[in-house]
Amino acid sequence: PHTGTQEYEDGVPKIPTACITVEDAEMISRMASHGNTIVIHLEMGAKTYPDTDSFNTIAEVTGSKYPQQVVLVSGHLDSWDVGQGALDDGGGAFISWEALSLIKDLGLRPKRTLRLVLWTAEEQGGIGASQYYERHKANASNYSLVMESDSGAFLPTGLQFTGSDKARAIMKEVMSLLQPLNVTEVFSDGEGTDINFWIQAGVPGASLRDDLYKYFSFHHSHGDTMTVMDPKQMNVAAAVWAVVSYVVADMEEMLPRS
Ligand SMILES: *[C@@H]1O[C@H](CO)[C@@H](O)[C@H](O)[C@H]1NC(C)=O
Ligand SMILES: *[C@@H]1O[C@H](CO)[C@@H](O)[C@H](O)[C@H]1NC(C)=O
Ligand SMILES: *[C@@H]1O[C@H](CO)[C@@H](O)[C@H](O)[C@H]1NC(C)=O
Ligand SMILES: [Zn+2]
Repeated sequence: PHTGTQEYEDGVPKIPTACITVEDAEMISRMASHGNTIVIHLEMGAKTYPDTDSFNTIAEVTGSKYPQQVVLVSGHLDSWDVGQGALDDGGGAFISWEALSLIKDLGLRPKRTLRLVLWTAEEQGGIGASQYYERHKANASNYSLVMESDSGAFLPTGLQFTGSDKARAIMKEVMSLLQPLNVTEVFSDGEGTDINFWIQAGVPGASLRDDLYKYFSFHHSHGDTMTVMDPKQMNVAAAVWAVVSYVVADMEEMLPRS
């Protein structure tokens, strides 16, 4: 069920929309294949409530040499109303947390500031990320790389990256450090609801690539619980996140924009 928000143009009838789970869709399909006539009784309880306050959660390891320059790692802290939000986006939030935690435990401090942002209100349309961007966009030229993991934090196959050819060549070298984990690929299209503001402004962006089939089997459903997460796979994802963010934050130069 790829649920999302529904918006209407002015003056059109507000036709309700609904999603059913993969499990229910497969059951209905089996019933249909047996020749049954299917009658569905659907009751919807969705409501739109007034806005309320919530907050991004931010932590950082301040850079030793270029503290005003930033490498940002992130995931979103809110989740859909059903399920637990373990894969969307508990996984992304906590591999980002773990990246900073590992670097702190190792007694490392990169040259540039390594900033963790756990975004609020992503599911309502990237609201926390939009506010952060508005408040910090004047400093965009000092953001070397923005990273978001919002695809589950399963066993990664590599990194999706958006940036110049020169920056991509550097990212390939950085990812080659992960040869012992066999996660060295650099794909195209680094993206994420919460980091796209920065990528559109020309800041290099990266996202974790993993098994989207698994992601969309549980996404935004009651099936999104801790049982779908695999601690060993999350450890590999956290290692990729920590190595990439640390190495880019500790290089002498920022990633080239062109
Ligand atoms: C952000 O940019 C503003 C305006 O250019 C500047 O005054 C401020 O020092 C910058 N902050 C950081 C942390 O670089
Ligand atoms: C970027 O960081 C440098 C220090 O590294 C600082 O002098 C400059 O004001 C910052 N610029 C912006 C726009 O934040
Ligand atoms: C390394 O990863 C690739 C795909 O990313 C996979 O095809 C290959 O089997 C893996 N090799 C090992 C030794 O796990
Ligand atoms: Zn998400």
